[in-house]
Amino acid sequence: MARVRTAYVCTECGGRNSKWQGQCPHCGAWNTLVETVAAAPSTRFAAVAGAAGEVRPLASVVTRTEPRSATGLEEFDRVLGGGLVPGGVVLLGGDPGIGKSTLLLQAMAAIGATRRALYVTGEESPEQIAMRAQRLGLLNAPVELLAEVQLEAILGAIRTRQPEVVVIDSIQTVYTEALESAPGSVAQVRECAAQLTRLAKQSAITVILVGHVTKEGAIAGPRVLEHIVDTVLYFEGDTHSSFRLVRAIKNRFGAANELGVFAMTERGLKGVANPSALFLSQHAEAVPGSCILATMEGSRPLLVEVQALVDPVHGGLARRLAVGLDPQRLSLLLAVLHRHGGVESGAFDVFVNAVGGVRISEPAADLAILAAVYSSIKNSALSDKSLVFGEVGLAGEIRPVQRGQERLREAAKLGFRRAIIPSANRPRHAIDGIEVVPVARISDALEHWRR
Ligand code: TYD
Ligand code: MG
Repeated sequence: MARVRTAYVCTECGGRNSKWQGQCPHCGAWNTLVETVAAAPSTRFAAVAGAAGEVRPLASVVTRTEPRSATGLEEFDRVLGGGLVPGGVVLLGGDPGIGKSTLLLQAMAAIGATRRALYVTGEESPEQIAMRAQRLGLLNAPVELLAEVQLEAILGAIRTRQPEVVVIDSIQTVYTEALESAPGSVAQVRECAAQLTRLAKQSAITVILVGHVTKEGAIAGPRVLEHIVDTVLYFEGDTHSSFRLVRAIKNRFGAANELGVFAMTERGLKGVANPSALFLSQHAEAVPGSCILATMEGSRPLLVEVQALVDPVHGGLARRLAVGLDPQRLSLLLAVLHRHGGVESGAFDVFVNAVGGVRISEPAADLAILAAVYSSIKNSALSDKSLVFGEVGLAGEIRPVQRGQERLREAAKLGFRRAIIPSANRPRHAIDGIEVVPVARISDALEHWRR
């Protein structure tokens, strides 16, 4: 017979808890938890989809703000949209060695101070985790450790230990006996993640899954995990520099595309509260092939140096290479520069790079890429203390971008004096300290760069 599951729901904040407690762990109210019967799921995925059943008017659904618990790491909370949500499932992906285990151990150590935290390790031995904890100065952190890769054993341990937050490091090492395929295969990863998600929803446990990234940059198991979980975070950054970015790709409980910025130090990851100037390389004077872009990362403006190197082709086909920027977009932009700006680059190899390992996908980078390329072709530096943003259309027009004012204000704060921007982004009131040069077409922009 299916076991009847009970859950306790707080009448104050609506938060769910797997057991009765005098005080609600989410909002701190006393004697507000009431027992409810969580319907036994009729299929494996019922609980993932949420309560099914009667049809009712949308207006009758009572909403509530998700109770959030801060992890204690401010930048991590920022990407999570304010903190962890009970029953929420988070996927943290990233290249090996980028700092996933470090970040989660730090977060769990902070969480463990007030809530029960379970760290399941399938990749490293408890000794290796302890060595990391020692390095982080967290050896006595109140975190429970479990070295296990078999799903049923992990689920059993979660049921008996009743943690509020569980880390699975990594989901690719976990396997269920119910399937014959090898650990790490799509079937295993999907099944294990689905079962862990079901448990998370039933028992209001927060589950954080660590996911490996394939060479192509996707989390192994062709994106299957991204649909199952509530929040997808990716670690970005150049392992050769100390800066690490954690980006929210999807977030059912907050804004997607929010960015957390960290620096990897000798004692773990430290949040960088004001990262806007982080990705500017420090040239003593302006150099050819360099342009400063004001980009938006989630809710924050960020100034990034875009570099280009243009060199005559030495036999064979001209190469186009983009690091941290969209390579296909590069070819398209070069065609626009030729057709609408009269600047030929077919005889050149063109390399572009966003400094500091940051990845920029917004089209607002277009104009900055062309500025850097043009500056490299002419071997002449753009004027110092100036910046650029704007999307470039196929007809040679410069299209407006979102939140132009915020970008300009941040640039002014950091000492930039001149901005070449889409004319539709021209601010209604002048911004102190910065001269705005509005451009409507690529030919207008070229005129300014020629000066
Ligand atoms: P790790 O967290 O093990 O990465 P992942 O789990 O994503 O594979 O990452 C660790 C890298 O960071 C490793 O190369 C060592 C380095 N590191 C530091 O520089 N400082 C530290 O305090 C720690 C714990 C690790
Ligand atoms: Mg790891």
